[in-house]
Amino acid sequence: MSNWVKFRESVREAVKTCLVPGLAVSSCLMLLACSASSPGNIESMVAREAKRVGIAGKNLKNPLPDTPEIAKTGQEHFGHHCQVCHGLDGHNTGVPFANKMSPNIPELSDHSVQEFSDGQLKMIIQNGIRFSGMPGWRGILDDNEMWAIVRFIRHLPPKGSLGVPAVFQESEEEHHHAEGQEHQHH
Ligand code: HEC
Repeated sequence: MSNWVKFRESVREAVKTCLVPGLAVSSCLMLLACSASSPGNIESMVAREAKRVGIAGKNLKNPLPDTPEIAKTGQEHFGHHCQVCHGLDGHNTGVPFANKMSPNIPELSDHSVQEFSDGQLKMIIQNGIRFSGMPGWRGILDDNEMWAIVRFIRHLPPKGSLGVPAVFQESEEEHHHAEGQEHQHH
């Protein structure tokens, strides 16, 4: 585990502890202060972890069967609505700004994403995530479309296997083209 991941885990633990009713506020602050030992935007991270711990829908069951067909349906919706930020494969492949957002766009194969229950993933898709670039899809996707996407997220294809989203391919080509021209002048 990288230090960063360990650090995030410790912040999350501290936040969980703080959500335990009856815990004195002062000890809570101390816990947060202790875990906040590395640089970065601690406040937004604490807010983010608090949000993650509190995501509803934990016990909602996915009503769709766990079949390759459903995952494929989910993949099609994902290809329409989510690829611009998450890549065709859910691993951000080819998305140039994935690590420039605050918070970064996670790879959906990450443990931190996969540890959510199906119901929580559905709620994330439905409601989006406040204070981040992750939009909510209520009114755009219907329930079954969202549940199918959850199935796809559980069966993501290998990283890079689906290539770069078309919108970014062109800009990559233009970029290389421009670089090539520069070199010709030498
Ligand atoms: C405009 C960019 C954008 C689009 C489009 C988008 N997302 Fe996201 N998504 C994000 C960002 C940014 C995050 C990180 C948010 C965070 O961690 O607080 C994220 C996080 C997630 C997470 C993980 C949540 C977490 O807390 O770890 C899931 C699951 C997810 N997105 C699914 C989807 C699905 C499914 C779609 C399409 C229906 C979609 N996203 C479309 C930007 C986007």
